[in-house]
Amino acid sequence: MPDDNNNAARPTAHNQLTSYAVFGNPIAHSLSPAIHAAFAQQTQQPIRYDKACIELPAFESAVHQFFHSGGGGLNITVPFKQRAFAMATELSEAAAKAGAVNTLYYQDGVLYGDNTDGAGLCRDLTNNLRWPVAGKRLLVLGAGGAVRGVLAPLIASSPASLVIANRTHAKAVVLQEQFAADAEQASVALSANNFAELEGDFDIVINGTSASLAGDLPEVSAAIVNHARCYDMVYGSSPTLFLQWAAQQGARSIADGLGMLVEQAAESFTLWRGVRPQAAPVIDRIRSSL
Ligand code: ATR
Repeated sequence: MPDDNNNAARPTAHNQLTSYAVFGNPIAHSLSPAIHAAFAQQTQQPIRYDKACIELPAFESAVHQFFHSGGGGLNITVPFKQRAFAMATELSEAAAKAGAVNTLYYQDGVLYGDNTDGAGLCRDLTNNLRWPVAGKRLLVLGAGGAVRGVLAPLIASSPASLVIANRTHAKAVVLQEQFAADAEQASVALSANNFAELEGDFDIVINGTSASLAGDLPEVSAAIVNHARCYDMVYGSSPTLFLQWAAQQGARSIADGLGMLVEQAAESFTLWRGVRPQAAPVIDRIRSSL
């Protein structure tokens, strides 16, 4: 057994330079290295953070190799979040419900998988934008992986109601069924719909479809966004097509997903380092560099 004096003399993991990275494919445009560098500078944490484009068949071996060589933690992005989920030996509740992992770390022989996307979205809505969710009527557009990843934290934020609407109705119904117990526990009225039959007044509309990435608009009626606060989980140097359209239809306010990106990174950083960085100044800094 090492004695206490030896321990005191030995540097701990937290003052040794430790390596972190984001694995994805493609990865060239990832902002994660810039975000984590800003967090490290702000909190005086000795980390380096790289991005790595991983060949599709090589994901699992690249993860093993990274931790085998002393890596401190990984962010995982498209298209590997489900494979990271399958690899993790211990899942957080958020990751289990999301069915996807965006944060990995290794401790005492255990590969931990977490998902910080939903927490990042909720923190951006409530802390940065000051769009309270509790008691509000929420509409989420889309029923793919991005939406599944954020539903549990959104429901836990206690909106009065949450409608999941998707172009393909059946996929919205599957999500409604998967999250029915969470909704019941939080007393949230959860329902599923398709775009054509969607109606009602909403306080917050979140576009979680990938339409903006393709320069497309989800085909929902203008009445849905009128007077609503509209959020797009996608971000860019200018407002996404959905946000431009929503503003034209009389949206109360609009915001893109840059804040969610920085907040999910802050959650990962906090898990890895035990220190919470301030996201707001980093959002401003990254925004001005877009
Ligand atoms: P992601 O990981 O980004 O969620 P995904 O799992 O492939 O990607 O899901 C994409 C989501 O965006 C789906 O809800 C998809 O709708 P369908 O289930 O009907 O395919 C939605 N989507 C993509 N392009 C769209 C468009 N042009 N209009 C409306 N919805 C769109």
